[in-house]
Formats: sequence, C-alpha cells, structure tokens
Amino acid sequence: MFKSGVLTFLIVFTVSIFAAKNVNGSQPVLQKTIEELFTDRADVIYPGSCKTFRSSARQSKMCKKEPGLSNIILTAKQQAITACEDTFQYDRWNCSLVFNKRPKKSIFKKIYRETAFVHALIAASIAHAVARGCASGNLSRCACFGSFKNTSWHVRGCGDDFKFGKRFTKNFLEWKQAGSDQIAEIIKQDVIVGIDSVGEQMKEICKCHGFSGSCTTKTCWKRLGPFNSAMGLLKKHYHHAVKRKLVNFTTKRAVTPKARKRMQLDKNNLIYLQKTPNLCFSTKGRICKDIHNCATLCCGRGYVTGKKIVKSRCKCKMVDCCFVKCDTCVETVDLFTCK
Ligand SMILES: *[C@@H]1O[C@H](CO)[C@@H](O)[C@H](O)[C@H]1NC(C)=O
Ligand SMILES: *[C@@H]1O[C@H](CO)[C@@H](O)[C@H](O)[C@H]1NC(C)=O
Ligand SMILES: *[C@@H]1O[C@H](CO)[C@@H](O)[C@H](O)[C@H]1NC(C)=O
Ligand SMILES: *[C@@H]1O[C@H](CO)[C@@H](O)[C@H](O)[C@H]1NC(C)=O
Repeated sequence: MFKSGVLTFLIVFTVSIFAAKNVNGSQPVLQKTIEELFTDRADVIYPGSCKTFRSSARQSKMCKKEPGLSNIILTAKQQAITACEDTFQYDRWNCSLVFNKRPKKSIFKKIYRETAFVHALIAASIAHAVARGCASGNLSRCACFGSFKNTSWHVRGCGDDFKFGKRFTKNFLEWKQAGSDQIAEIIKQDVIVGIDSVGEQMKEICKCHGFSGSCTTKTCWKRLGPFNSAMGLLKKHYHHAVKRKLVNFTTKRAVTPKARKRMQLDKNNLIYLQKTPNLCFSTKGRICKDIHNCATLCCGRGYVTGKKIVKSRCKCKMVDCCFVKCDTCVETVDLFTCK
C-alpha cells in the first residue's frame, strides 16, 4: 500500500516536470507561444518584431517579413480571450490563469482539461485570424491561395483561406520542432483539434448570376464566420476531453506503438493528463445566469438574490425619413450571486 503510494507520487511528480519542459530543459515554442498569449491580458508590448509576445528568433523573422502579422497575432489573442470569457462566464472555470485564486496553481503547470482547451483555443484563434488576414489582404503572401474546388458550376472567388491559415499557424508555432514524445504528441493533438474546429465552421457561400434569377453561373467561396461561431464546438471538445495516462513512464518521453494506437482512437478529442482540482472554493461571489445555473456554479452553497438595473435601447422608430430614434428603457432584473 505504502509502496504504491510512493510510486503514484513519483509518476505524478515526473509528469509535472514533463508537462513543462522538453528534452533540452526549455519549453517548446509551440507551448510557450500559446501560454504567453493567453497569459498576458494587459497587452504588453515586447521587444522584437512580433510585439505581442516574446517571440523566438524564427517567429521574429516571420513578423519582420510580414508587417501585418504582429497585428494579426494581437487580434488572435484578444478574440480568443474575449470569446473564452464570454463562453465560460457561468462555468466554474472562467478562463482564469490559476485555479482557486492560488498563484501556484497555474493552469499551465500540468496538462489539465483547461490546459488542453487553451492550447486548442489559441491555436484555433491564430488560424482564424490568419485566414481572415489572407482574405482581407493584410497578409501579403496568401491572397486567394487555392481554396476553391471545382464543382459542376463555374467556381471563382476569394474567401477566407483556412487551409493556408492552418499551415501557417503550424509553421508559426514551430510545429516541427515541438518534438514527438508523449507530452508533445498530446499538445499537438489538442492544437490540431482546435484548429480544425475553426475549419468545420467554414460555410460555402454561393451567388447566382443569370438571366432573371436563373443560376446559369454560380460564384462560390468559403467563408469563415466570426471567431465566436467556433466556440460552441470548442466548448464541446472541452466537455468531451479524454483523460490519458502516460504509457510506460520508464521510457520517459518516447511514444510507444501502443500509446500511438490509443491516440489514434481518440484523435478527434482533446487529451489531458491531470484531473482539475475542485473549483468550488473559488465560486463565492460569482454571478449565475439563472437559478438552474446557480445549482452547479455555487456548488450547493446557495445564492443571494439581488436586483440589477438594466438599461437598453427600445421603442425605436424612424424619424425624418432616415434616422432611427430610440428611447432608453430601464428594467429591474434579478441578480443571483453565489454564497
Ligand atoms: C488590416 O490592417 C489594418 C491595419 O493594421 C487594419 O486597420 C484593418 O482593420 C485590417 N483589415 C482587416 C479586414 O482586418
Ligand atoms: C477544375 O476545372 C478546370 C477548368 O475550369 C480544369 O481544367 C481542371 O482540371 C479542374 N480540376 C479538377 C481537379 O477537377
Ligand atoms: C517500458 O520501456 C522499457 C524501455 O524501453 C522496456 O524495457 C519495458 O519493457 C517497458 N515496460 C512496459 C510495461 O511496457
Ligand atoms: C473568474 O472567477 C474568479 C473567481 O474564481 C474571479 O476572481 C474573476 O474575476 C473571474 N474572472 C472573470 C473574467 O469573470
């Protein structure tokens, strides 16, 4: 009994070291970039061409070559954090960087469900922002880059280039240098699941050109929605994430054929390694959406009902032909706060 306790400790201890470092003792750029982008909420400007984070030499070179890139990365970061906070506003984990307000409990210390999600989220957001940058011409080297498929229709057009976004994101995150050990493989899978969530939101939009509405020729292009539209799918991945143990930790970092086979089975899921701590210690004072949400968010401690005044535009009407004039309506609504 005692022995197995020590062994468990050793495994957990070893894993926590694995989670942070690669073989040379430094964190792969892939992980480092994602974690820095999510962590810096104050939009600090760093030295180097990428500005938004402490970039590697290679990343700086890319930012220098593509003057629009640093802005695209900034957009990626901001839209990811905003979307995360909106989507998880009423969840026990609300995109905070630490668990239970304890600075030592960083979400990046191990690979929790939340860590896996953030890896997916940031990568997805970069791919989205790059694709958008392509479509808008803010990235010079990718305008209208082979994103069209032949159909029986005449196909032309220029849309968001997701394929390019995916490739560019992997390149920017130094995918090839990220390693192929068990931890690296898990992080890479989480990143790909994230990026592909953006791809799955692509919509084909077609426009007909023809005599009196007939569709003799049709122009089609693929269009990405706003980044928010991928959040539903990303959150689903968060809920369906699969917990994995490192296989044969005596082999340290190598992925065994058996482990590879198991990863194949779950290749469409986020993978994490450590159980999230109980977050009920930190939900005191959190606002719930409704009574039903309070039941989970407040962890059974109950809630206080207060009142909140909400102002909104209402009774809008057209005046003087072309202007919309609205009143401001004031409404009192219930506000539920966790005890
Ligand atoms: C392109 O970049 C410029 C300057 O950085 C910015 O003002 C503009 O909004 C960008 N366009 C799009 C569509 O993102
Ligand atoms: C796509 O259409 C062009 C003609 O518009 C044709 O030459 C080409 O072979 C087609 N490609 C595929 C993959 O069908
Ligand atoms: C773990 O890996 C070591 C070194 O490759 C090997 O000798 C050993 O048999 C493996 N153990 C299991 C349980 O697979
Ligand atoms: C998230 O929750 C913590 C308490 O767990 C709170 O201190 C923090 O302000 C919340 N953040 C946001 C963005 O709501």
